[in-house]
Amino acid sequence: MEAIILLGAPGAGKGTVAEALVKKTDLQHVSTGDMLRAAVKSGTEVGNKARSFMEAGELVPDDIIVGIVRERLEAGADDERVMFDGFPRTLEQARLLDEAIQDLKGYLTHVFLLEVPKDILVQRISGRRICRQCGAVYHVPNLPPVKEGICDKCGGELYQRPDDNEETVLNRLKVFEEQTAALINYYEQQGILVRVDAARTADATRDAVLAEMS
Ligand code: AP5
Repeated sequence: MEAIILLGAPGAGKGTVAEALVKKTDLQHVSTGDMLRAAVKSGTEVGNKARSFMEAGELVPDDIIVGIVRERLEAGADDERVMFDGFPRTLEQARLLDEAIQDLKGYLTHVFLLEVPKDILVQRISGRRICRQCGAVYHVPNLPPVKEGICDKCGGELYQRPDDNEETVLNRLKVFEEQTAALINYYEQQGILVRVDAARTADATRDAVLAEMS
């Protein structure tokens, strides 16, 4: 197993770049945010435990997160290439990921830090709209659907994530600074951190990541 990490503040474009990379590579997208939202929607035990943390913009406890990631990795093929999005988010998660990768005889090749100024982060999050049916992500006004409120791909209804309201967004940004930014130093010391200017278009950001990986 080989892995890369997309690290960045809420709204940095991790999910968008991940989807763009999936189209050009064999990387498997593993987003803890998406896994948790699916668990909340299906009302599983993990979802019920995670819901209140997510609604408040707080981190879900490490043991829950590491449990779902380990399960996902153990179910994957030995030679798969994984792209983490939104994981790890604490030093404890990073250490446990190192252990899990070691157990699977895999390695972490790159940690891409997507750098975006705070005013753009807020603008990206507040304009995000998601299709209820297929999960496609839009942005008003950066990437609007042809017909307002309707998904171009499947005709589904577009909605705003419950944690994308102003108060929760500000807390998510604070939580990133307080708990996740420490990972920058952690991976810099391992010599695998790559800083990427992600204030550009999603395609330009994707190409910068691909250039580093080639
Ligand atoms: P998660 O789903 O991971 O959210 P996040 O990190 O806050 O990141 P976002 O999804 O908000 O942003 P993104 O960087 O993916 O941006 P996107 O590409 O969508 O986590 C949600 C919650 O789950 C957390 O708060 C926590 O409670 C919990 N959680 C998840 N993982 C956890 C973990 N490991 N540990 C503990 N708790 C965890 O882009 C945003 C918008 O901008 C979109 O509308 C997009 O169209 C637009 N956009 C993107 N790129 C560009 C561009 N280049 N130009 C113009 N517009 C762009």
